[in-house]
Order: sequence, then structure tokens, then C-alpha cells
Amino acid sequence: MKSWFYFLLFLYLIIVSVIVDGDGDGGDGDDEDRPTKGRGGLERNFYRTSCPKAESLIRDITWNRVKNDANLGARLLRIHYHDCFVKGCDGSILLDTAGNEKSEKEARSNLSLLGFEIIDEIKTEVEKECPGVVSCADIVALAARDTVSYPFQKSMWDVFTGRRDGRISLESDANVHLPSPFANFTSLLQLFASKNLDINDLVALSGAHTIGVAHCGSFSRRLYNFTGKGDIDPSLDPIYGEQLKKICPLPINGAITLDMDPQSSLSFDNDYFNMLTKKKGLFISDAALLTDRRSARIVRQLQSPKSFFRAFAISMINMGAIEVLTGTNGEIRKNCRVVNP
Ligand code: HEM
Ligand SMILES: *[C@@H]1O[C@H](CO)[C@@H](O)[C@H](O)[C@H]1NC(C)=O
Ligand SMILES: *[C@@H]1O[C@H](CO)[C@@H](O)[C@H](O)[C@H]1NC(C)=O
Ligand SMILES: *[C@@H]1O[C@H](CO)[C@@H](O)[C@H](O)[C@H]1NC(C)=O
Repeated sequence: MKSWFYFLLFLYLIIVSVIVDGDGDGGDGDDEDRPTKGRGGLERNFYRTSCPKAESLIRDITWNRVKNDANLGARLLRIHYHDCFVKGCDGSILLDTAGNEKSEKEARSNLSLLGFEIIDEIKTEVEKECPGVVSCADIVALAARDTVSYPFQKSMWDVFTGRRDGRISLESDANVHLPSPFANFTSLLQLFASKNLDINDLVALSGAHTIGVAHCGSFSRRLYNFTGKGDIDPSLDPIYGEQLKKICPLPINGAITLDMDPQSSLSFDNDYFNMLTKKKGLFISDAALLTDRRSARIVRQLQSPKSFFRAFAISMINMGAIEVLTGTNGEIRKNCRVVNP
């Protein structure tokens, strides 16, 4: 009889621990087993025979440049993200305006994308090595990974390759497909879902805001008369809010920028999640990650550097596979700024 009692108690404890843990991942915050969502037909080292030196050439050029301009990591990472979210990772973000409508990079949401020159420079070198082989979309994906990885002197995530370049780039698409910094959790999750990305991707990728800068206009409405009572957004730390007001006084000057992670805006680390839990996330869209129980739980998990780097690596593979063109779709652009004739 007694052994039955202990057996039932044992069963009960197991069931309770699984329920409390919610997702049954073992509860230690590791997501080792979280699979990537497929690679959209991309593969590892796609250019191994057609242009074997492509990947090392791209890494050498970016590492040389980022040595003298540490901001490049943030710039190229954001270009890759904007590329992937608008019409897939097809290099469309690189195209200059050609027809009647402005191209993606001219959209309001571009908010000063920078770093296009280095893509041109890489493309020129790669074309010398293997003309007409390596896509601009792959160059963006590899260069983003390599610039961010430079301080670590190793690759921080895998980049699968074989993307081909698109021929369409429209401002109107950028306005619809990029999330607004004022978005709430529900609309962020919806937008990510429309890109085949889930809540884990949303939280992990938001961690990119551990590097780089923002303009006052992207968050200043949180600082002044937020609820109509002359107040600061209650989801923002009030002392931090006062500091931000000093940097962004009224009337808002569109040229002023500030570091999103003021402690270490050049270092790719998991500080974003520590800032976030202290109510120091800069955008409404950052703070929104704490308004949902599940995402708030992921935020706490990613306060562990190991968990963050692993989760980010998985989510970058997912993001890099959004609506990619492969095989005979699209083209290999000669010049990243214009479609082939
Ligand atoms: C979750 C939705 C997201 C929103 C609403 C958002 C919004 C923004 C905004 C408003 C800025 C500042 C622009 C400015 O004021 O100049 C910014 C900067 C940046 N974002 Fe995001 N972002 C999101 C997701 C991402 C993702 C997924 C990545 C990359 C994986 C990313 C990488 C960056 C980087 C690196 C910067 C700094 C760029 C620089 O310093 O040049 N963001 N983002
Ligand atoms: C971003 O858009 C603004 C406004 O349309 C434009 O002046 C600027 O040149 C664009 N940035 C890039 C890199 O094209
Ligand atoms: C989130 O934002 C969307 C779009 O602005 C809005 O329709 C929706 O009501 C908002 N949801 C919540 C919970 O506030
Ligand atoms: C703050 O917002 C309220 C409600 O919209 C408005 O009546 C008031 O004039 C605003 N105050 C300032 C200083 O803009």
C-alpha cells in the first residue's frame, strides 16, 4: 500500500511540474531543441563550387571596415532585417528609386538606414572574383552576420545562402510590412506571424536593439503628455524618462540620435533584456514585450547571455529565410542598386 502512495505522489509531482513549467522545456530557460523553421531552400555554403572565396572575401572586407567604424554592425543588421520583412530577403532594400514610386529605402520607416556603400564595395570585389554569381541578398545576409561577429572573431550565427535578387522595391510595401515602434504586442505578433516568425523570434530578434541608435521622434511621444495628463508613459522608468527628455527636448529635433543601450551601444550583448525588465526599453514596441505573459517569460529567459545568443542565432536563420527567391526565380543583380537590364 505504502509504495503505491509514493508512486502516486511521484506521478503527481511530475504532472504538476510540467503544468507549472508551461511549455515543458525543462524550465531552465534553454531552448536548445527549438528547431529552425526550415531554410526556404537555402543551403550551407551555396557558393562552395561556383565562388569558393565569396564568403571569406565578404568577411575580410567587413572586418576591415568595422575595425574603423564600429557602428557598421547595427547598420547592416538593420538593412538585412528591413530587406527580409519587405518582399522577403531579396536585396530589394538596396534598389534605388527607378520608376514613378519611390523605392523601399526611401520609405518613412527607413529612418536613416545607413551602410549601403559597403554593400556596393563588397559587390564590386565579389564581381571581380566571380562575375554574376553571388546575389546582393546573400551579400547583405553575410555582411550583417560578419560585422556583428567581428568583436567575437567567430560567426555568431549560421547564414544559409542561395538567395536570388528581386526586381521590385516599393515604398508602399515598406510602409505596410515593417512594424511601427508604436505597435502593441498583438500587432507585433501578428506581423511576425505573417513572416512565419513566432513569439520566440519576436522577442529574440528585438534583442538586436542592444546595438545602434534611434532618433528622438521614434519614442518622444512616450515622454510628453503621454496619457493627456502631462505625464511620461507609465511603462517607462520615470527617472530614465527624465534623462531622455534632456536628450530630446521640445520641440523635437529630427536630427538628434541616442544610443538604444546607453551602457554598451556598440557591443552585441544581451543588455537589451536587462534594460527591458528595468522598464528602460526605448520604444513602445520594446515595452510591449512585457505586456504579454508568455513573451515576458521569454524576456526573462534571455537575460542569460547563453540563452540569448542561442535564441538569436536560431531566429536569424528563420528571419533570413523569409520569402526567399531560389533556383531560377529572381536574378543575380550586376549592381545592387539597379535591376539587370
Ligand atoms: C520588433 C519590431 C521592431 C521595431 C518596431 C523596430 C523599430 C526600430 C526603430 C524605430 C529604430 C530606430 C530608427 C531611428 O529612430 O533611427 C530601430 C533601430 C534598429 N533596429 Fe529595430 N525594430 C524592430 C525589430 C528589429 C529587428 C528584428 C532587428 C534585427 C534583427 C532590428 C535591428 C535594429 C538595429 C540594429 C537598429 C539600429 C540601427 C542603427 O543604429 O543604424 N530591429 N528599430
Ligand atoms: C530615407 O528616406 C528619406 C525620406 O524619404 C530620404 O530622404 C533618405 O534619402 C532615405 N534614406 C536612404 C538611405 O535612401
Ligand atoms: C493594438 O493595435 C492595433 C492596431 O493599432 C489595434 O487595432 C488594437 O486594438 C490594439 N490592441 C490592443 C490590445 O490595444
Ligand atoms: C495634454 O493632453 C491633454 C489631452 O489631450 C490636452 O488637453 C493638454 O492641452 C495637453 N497638454 C499639453 C501641455 O500639451
